[in-house]
Amino acid sequence: MLFGDSFRKLPKVDLHVHLEGTITPEMAKKIASRNNVIPSPQLMDSSGEHFRWSSDGDARHNLIAFLKAYDDATSVMKRREDYSDITYDYLHRAAQEGCVYVEFFISADHGAMVGLDYKEMIGAIADGYEKAKKESGIEMRLISTCVRHYGPEAALKVADVTRGYHHPLVTGFGMAGDENAHTIADFRPAFMASGLAGRTAHAGEASGPETVRQARDILQVRRFGHMVRAIEDVKLMEEQKSILAVPEVCVSSNIALKVYPDYKSHPLRRFFDYGLKVVLGSDDPSFFNTSIGREYKIAHDHFGFTETELLQLSRNAVEEAFVGEAVRGQLLDKIAAHKH
Ligand code: HPA
Ligand code: ZN
Repeated sequence: MLFGDSFRKLPKVDLHVHLEGTITPEMAKKIASRNNVIPSPQLMDSSGEHFRWSSDGDARHNLIAFLKAYDDATSVMKRREDYSDITYDYLHRAAQEGCVYVEFFISADHGAMVGLDYKEMIGAIADGYEKAKKESGIEMRLISTCVRHYGPEAALKVADVTRGYHHPLVTGFGMAGDENAHTIADFRPAFMASGLAGRTAHAGEASGPETVRQARDILQVRRFGHMVRAIEDVKLMEEQKSILAVPEVCVSSNIALKVYPDYKSHPLRRFFDYGLKVVLGSDDPSFFNTSIGREYKIAHDHFGFTETELLQLSRNAVEEAFVGEAVRGQLLDKIAAHKH
């Protein structure tokens, strides 16, 4: 069994986390108050300590209700420093849990809701990162992300602003949002236009195996947000293994959004044992009452991952991170230096 400090020190990587999904209820209240805004009354439960969204119905309806709450939480922010503060706050907390690298999904559309253009939003996030990095050495890169249910035209605009403003911290292009809105093919122009080598798309979470195939073949991604429902298709599993597909697995998210009812039915262990290059993510930690440390702990406690296997997950993540070779090497060294 791994306990306390030795578990904390195990180097962890969060390769799937949405920046606005890290805003804690406490932070949302603090930011709302300094901006003189009142958070949406449905956003928090009566204690004011937890976000909530209607959780009736199937995974698809859960995701849609959750995405509305996500936008409500975002809308307490109004200024540049709000983005800097939430970035710092998450990276600081993640570093305390032993996380050495975070890749955030960021969204120009959400920046616009706050009143910031893409360049201002990136500048604000970079400031939060610099502060956290000085304290703990944590590394971060950004995935500029289009939101599927905002539609293909909005996605193309996100790709255009991404291409139009190169920033060294923005190393990937991604797609999140409602997996059942529009078709994957509608977003091919955006993926082709972003000009970034790193690519990932949410698929196989609220929709079945076929969207995983489409994301791979039409958007040319090899990293997949979730991909868990690929388990339903034996042939797809073989294909995914043969291309060294990387499923970004977020267990607490899948349970909170009712993709799976419990740990027992979740395919994390089966993916790993089959030989897929699994990595872990916290997705929207403040909504799903989790953290990257907790996701590693769940893998250990409920899926039987040994310390060696947890380190393999971190190594997988660093190998597949959208980061330059120098930093990749430093991160691999940190993992190799970990004492059992
Ligand atoms: N899933 C899909 N889209 C999202 C999520 C998520 O968990 N969070 C923010 N956008
Ligand atoms: Zn996600």
